[in-house]
Amino acid sequence: MAMPPRDSFQFWNTQPVPKLGEVVTENTYINPPVSVEQVQQKPCNLPDGFHWTEVDLQDPEELKELYTLLSLNYVEDDDNMFRFDYSAEFLLWALMPPGWQKVWHCGVRAGGNNKLVGFIGAIPCHLQVHDKDVKCVEINFLCVHKKLRSKRLAPVLIKEITRRVNLKGIFQATFTAGVVIPKPIARCRYWHRTLNPKKLIETEFSALKPNMTMARTIKLYKVPEAPLHNIIPLQEKHIKSAYKLLKTYLKNFKLYPLFTEAEFKHFMLPRDNIIYSYVLVDDKQHVTDLCSFYNLPSTVVSHPLHNQIKAAYSFYNVATTISFKDLMQNALIMAKKASFDVFNALDIMENESILEELKFGIGDGFLQYYLYNWKCPDLSPSQVGFVLQ
Ligand SMILES: CC(C)(COP(=O)(O)OP(=O)(O)OC[C@H]1O[C@@H](n2cnc3c(N)ncnc32)[C@H](O)[C@@H]1OP(=O)(O)O)[C@@H](O)C(=O)NCCC(=O)NCCS
Repeated sequence: MAMPPRDSFQFWNTQPVPKLGEVVTENTYINPPVSVEQVQQKPCNLPDGFHWTEVDLQDPEELKELYTLLSLNYVEDDDNMFRFDYSAEFLLWALMPPGWQKVWHCGVRAGGNNKLVGFIGAIPCHLQVHDKDVKCVEINFLCVHKKLRSKRLAPVLIKEITRRVNLKGIFQATFTAGVVIPKPIARCRYWHRTLNPKKLIETEFSALKPNMTMARTIKLYKVPEAPLHNIIPLQEKHIKSAYKLLKTYLKNFKLYPLFTEAEFKHFMLPRDNIIYSYVLVDDKQHVTDLCSFYNLPSTVVSHPLHNQIKAAYSFYNVATTISFKDLMQNALIMAKKASFDVFNALDIMENESILEELKFGIGDGFLQYYLYNWKCPDLSPSQVGFVLQ
């Protein structure tokens, strides 16, 4: 059972965020922006024996160090059976979009052997929040080595990335987390569509339902071999019209990214084993429909048979000439063809309308959306048009 949210937050109570339970009616900053000269110029103090490092992701050795830190210490499920296994190439995609900054790949090393033991990353982003356009950063990959937990290193990492972002004249941030801290703007849930029931049941990712045999379960989750429509991988030549399609579509929501075309291209153009995007085009080669998902496997912690679950995560989807359900069915078919074991989707955007029909099951995890130094009225999941990796 989920623990009730705490009301004392030693760190978060000192930060410009609304209190848990506070009813917000305005849509505005909490602390006003300051000039860059007024931002603390010196790095935040780390405990003795630790020092700051900018992780150079263009150096294969340093990229591997970050990959190793995260693959052994990043997010696990409540029962510690699965742990996210972001690939090194995925980290390059997620952390180096247009406008990326090396100072925002903020690491902590331990003195003795210089080992990377902590990380927090930021990338530039523009968000539409209700009726306002907010220049901010997306914070991701906050991680502290398992042996250094509960020593208040996370607040130092958060303060340091805030300082480095403030030094570039940006005073707002967004992030998502499984934990409840002050104060989520939206509370969303993951749903899971089984594609490979045998493996998911063997790894205890899911359980065989009462009165079901494995054979019947396999039949239940079968998807057609070929897509229902003539969907093709998104290509460079489609970018302009696909960009326009998504940009127009996202206006239906109250929280969404204001991608530039370059950002759209970076995040949507297919990359092997990272991001899968498919489109339907009309006679004039204009994109009319778009679906996409990214590849985020999880390590199966100590299992005799399986060491990884290959999971697809729904990204951005727009249907205009086929139903949203058929579009998502096509996404499931393409994910199955690419040998994913499970397809995950949040109950955001239009997703909720098709989850049950397409045989998704509700997960036990919540994903909270947060803004830093910004307050705005709460959103329901279906008002959220934003996916973080
Ligand atoms: C998240 C993580 C870095 C926190 O470090 P920690 O050693 O457990 O906690 P610390 O003692 O350093 O800091 C605790 C403070 O960080 C806050 N915190 C914990 N997880 C957080 C998160 N995901 N986002 C923001 N703040 C978080 C806590 O609420 C607490 O602040 P409070 O006193 O105001 O409540 C660490 O547990 C970790 O690496 N976990 C695995 C990866 C992960 O879950 N990353 C976050 C992905 S969203």
